[in-house]
Amino acid sequence: MAKLTYLSHSSWLIENSNFTVAIDPFLEGNPTAPLKAADIKANFIIVTHAHGDHLGDSIPIAKANDGTIITNFEIANYCQEKGAQVHPMHIGGAHEFPFGRVKMTPAWHGSSFPDGSYGGTPAGCLVTIDGKTIYHTGDTGIFLDMKLIGEMDHIDVMLVNIGDNFTMGIDDAVKAVEFVNPDLVIPMHYKTFDVIEVDPQEFADKVRAKGFNVRVLEYGTGIEL
Ligand code: NI
Ligand code: MN
Repeated sequence: MAKLTYLSHSSWLIENSNFTVAIDPFLEGNPTAPLKAADIKANFIIVTHAHGDHLGDSIPIAKANDGTIITNFEIANYCQEKGAQVHPMHIGGAHEFPFGRVKMTPAWHGSSFPDGSYGGTPAGCLVTIDGKTIYHTGDTGIFLDMKLIGEMDHIDVMLVNIGDNFTMGIDDAVKAVEFVNPDLVIPMHYKTFDVIEVDPQEFADKVRAKGFNVRVLEYGTGIEL
């Protein structure tokens, strides 16, 4: 059985007895992070897009742990130039890794690096591990093709951005959950910065009223999948 832990913002850890997978590990410079980058012992690091609050500490974590960064082709090239092991993918593609399957999904957003260089197109991801599928939306606005994502894979847990301004806000995120129809939804990408200061309980109340299971996680806590 795998464990899913919320590291604040869009950062997650998925762990089972053999592997640790980090998604968008943004710890250094993140005022809400419960851990330091040095605490993360990840075999694989999934990066949804090149913005600093998602690329985060991926390169140092990969290098410190002999880990592999799974991301789009452009970000993979950048990380490889910085000395990290990478596995390039792109939107629509899936691959079986030792821990499970990753499929890259579309996201409507940007993806430049903090230094302004080109980071390809942003993405979300489906991660299937120990028979459970997690959908991490990445940073995105709502899009109707989310319905296809929910139709083609049963989504056990949807990690959805609710912070508004840069991504979907609460009401769009509730609609996105209706499109995807997951067993459980957990909000993310809120409160880290003043401009995304929204109340996750408001999201929880609204999505629960639509009949969905929702959990708002404290930073550093998680669930068994
Ligand atoms: Ni972003
Ligand atoms: Mn972001």
